[in-house]
Amino acid sequence: MFSVQQQEEIDKAISNLKSGNVVGLPTETVYGLAANVFDQSAVQKIFETKKRPFFDPLIVHISHLSQLKSVVSEFSDLPQFLAERFWPGPLTMVLPKGAKITGLVTSGLETVGVRFPKHTMAQKIISGLGFPVAAPSANLFGKTSPTTAEHVRSEFGDKVFVVDGGPCEVGLESTVIGFDENYQIVKIHRPGAITNKDLEVALNDFSRQVYVTYEESKVAPGHLKHHYMPTLPLVILEKESLDENKIATLLKIEKKSGVELKLSSDPVLAARELYVKLRECSQMDVGFIYVFKNESQINELWTAIWDRLSKASSLVL
Ligand code: TXA
Ligand code: MG
Repeated sequence: MFSVQQQEEIDKAISNLKSGNVVGLPTETVYGLAANVFDQSAVQKIFETKKRPFFDPLIVHISHLSQLKSVVSEFSDLPQFLAERFWPGPLTMVLPKGAKITGLVTSGLETVGVRFPKHTMAQKIISGLGFPVAAPSANLFGKTSPTTAEHVRSEFGDKVFVVDGGPCEVGLESTVIGFDENYQIVKIHRPGAITNKDLEVALNDFSRQVYVTYEESKVAPGHLKHHYMPTLPLVILEKESLDENKIATLLKIEKKSGVELKLSSDPVLAARELYVKLRECSQMDVGFIYVFKNESQINELWTAIWDRLSKASSLVL
């Protein structure tokens, strides 16, 4: 199922992770920077490598439901139902944490984010380890997420071994959901490829009524404004047409020309190419990147794409 080279990379990743190192791990959403979730100094290396503040909790990645018993203290009927429907896949569930998961992983919270990725190389690596891995996106804190192995290498150089699993199929970070105490409400903390509608449709088959709401997590401020930022400023043109002089003045930059970020009209393709294009635009000899907000982009996946674009932006006009 894997090529010789892929198998070699899988083996190397396993030995690195077992030795307490961090590894660039392909998933179907974005590349992660993985470490043994039960090894405190390995987890610490994630924060150091990413220059990530300790208040931003990590997601734990599993490759089999049986691993949940070492990660969460409760797995009630609703998360179980959603796991059956959406795992493996781009859905992270925030659940009560198990005793073995430390506050370093959860930023001191009593809950932990868990995800079962669909990428076969990620699954093979995690299964080969015998322990789950903590993995945030493999980018410097606040910067654009990586969707190719090359992106990760360009971010961290030789410091990190990266498994090449090809370009990410989804291209956007997983949907993060949490629950109320009685498991009657699903709260979408971060929109993603599993949409509000996907959840509602699935929940029609659940044994009782559950509501789906959007609610950014107040306790885990991982998605504060200024996240996912490219190295050049991104300008969203919501109402105004392009005026390069005005934008350069507002951004206080010398170079007055900008480059347009053009995304495919199909949101599945737009999500897949978003971070690649943001990085490409950032390498051009211009002062800024601009993107037009299009009224027709009302599909649910566009909500997730625009969530990232608005957090990546420096200016909205
Ligand atoms: O698709 C993904 O989720 C990727 C791949 C690598 O799996 N990972 C990812 O990780 O995007 P990261 O660290 O960049 O974003 C995870 C976000 C955090 O910013 C945090 O806000 C939220 O998930 N999160 C994690 N644990 C949480 C918790 N206990 N409560 C609320 N939110 C949590
Ligand atoms: Mg991230």
